[in-house]
Order: sequence, then C-alpha cells, then structure tokens
Amino acid sequence: TAPAAVIVAIDGPAGTGKSSTSKAVAAELGFGYLDTGAQYRAITWWMLNNGIDVTDTAAVADAAAKPVIVSGTDPAAPTITVDGVDVAGPIRGQEVTSRVSAVSAVPEVRTVITELQRSIAASAERGIVVEGRDIGTTVLPDADLKIFLTASAEARAARRSGELGGKDAADLAATQAALARRDAADSGRKTSPLAKADDAVEVDTTDLTLQQVIECVVTLVQEKQQAR
Ligand code: DC
Repeated sequence: TAPAAVIVAIDGPAGTGKSSTSKAVAAELGFGYLDTGAQYRAITWWMLNNGIDVTDTAAVADAAAKPVIVSGTDPAAPTITVDGVDVAGPIRGQEVTSRVSAVSAVPEVRTVITELQRSIAASAERGIVVEGRDIGTTVLPDADLKIFLTASAEARAARRSGELGGKDAADLAATQAALARRDAADSGRKTSPLAKADDAVEVDTTDLTLQQVIECVVTLVQEKQQAR
C-alpha cells in the first residue's frame, strides 16, 4: 500500500507569512495546499451576499450548512468557489475581512468548515500543507508536523499594508489597528481560538526573509519524512 500522506499544519496570526510560506512549501514538496482562512472568508461572503446579518449568531448558525464551498488544492493555482461561483477576488475585500471574525466564531460554522477541512486532508495523496488558526489544535491534531508562525505586530502590519498597496504612515497605522482587532477576536473566541499547539514548532519570522522561512519549514518536513 502507498505510504500515508504527510500532513503539515501551519497556524498563526494574520501577516506572519502563512499563505506565502504554505504555498511555497507545498509546491516544493509536491504536496497539496489548503487555505482554511479562505473557506471562512467564503462562508462570510455567502452570508453577506444572502442578506444575513452577521451579528445575528442564530441566523448565521441556521444558514451555516447551506453554502457549498469547494477548495482547489494546487499550490500553484489555489481556487475557491461558493455554490459554483469563483469568489477568490471578493473574499479579500474589506467587507469580508472586517466581518470574517464574527462569522468564524459561530460554533455551527466551525463544525461545517472543520468537517470539510478534514475530508480534504484525508484525500491528500503525497501530502498537504493546511494553514489556518486552529489546524494543529483542533482540525488535524495528529498532523505529522505543526508549525506556529509569529512576527512582531509592526512587521505583520508592514507586510499586510504593503500587500494592500498602503503608501504612508496612516495606512500602516490603520492596518496595524485592524490586524490587532482581528487577532484579538480570533484569539479570544470560545470555540477553537487561534492558539499554538503544545507540540508545534514556533518560528518567529520577524527578522527572517520569506525564503528563509520556507527553507526552515521544508527542512522540518524532510526530517519528519526521514523519521517515518
Ligand atoms: O488567514 P485569513 O486571514 O485569510 O483568515 C481569515 C479569518 O478566518 C481569520 O481572521 C479567522 C478565521 N479563521 C479561523 O477562524 N480558523 C482558521 N483555521 C482559519 C481562519
């Protein structure tokens, strides 16, 4: 029989380089890639698009199982659709970004999305890199390797502001405040908060280049593969 797929969980707050790192590591190792934040963003987009008040927890819970979310796991071209609609663009917008923490805090939403994530991971062939907030703690507690990425608040804001096309100190300050709000909500929620698993390797990316982080994670995966 074929060896079991290698499962890599990469968690951490926003702006630590999770997506860039996860995609590059998956591509280098010939693994699949799953962006679980994109799934929470997609369900949030669907709620907004269907006129659901995302502050109404009961309404969000009732609707949680309705949207059909499909994630494509090719790291060179990840895709995400909701009810067959490509939402890769709109899920990165301000409207979704400012509401995703509220929607993702609803337990019924987490149950639906967690099941989806587990089924995708279970169908991986060689391996899969799954990035998020609670992958190592809740979604895939038996992952072969768990990484927890961190970076200073200043470094995270500078990276994210750069991605968003921020030009000045005011843009940077606004980005830092928005990230801090989202991290506080994601870390403070009751159900499956952002947290480092006890057996995760913490990598502080503040003073590392993206290439250095990628090399570090690839080496850790290869060590695990050799030990199997
Ligand atoms: O990684 P991201 O910034 O695209 O994630 C968007 C939001 O989704 C994040 O603020 C919290 C939520 N999320 C979550 O609750 N659990 C995950 N595993 C991934 C994301």
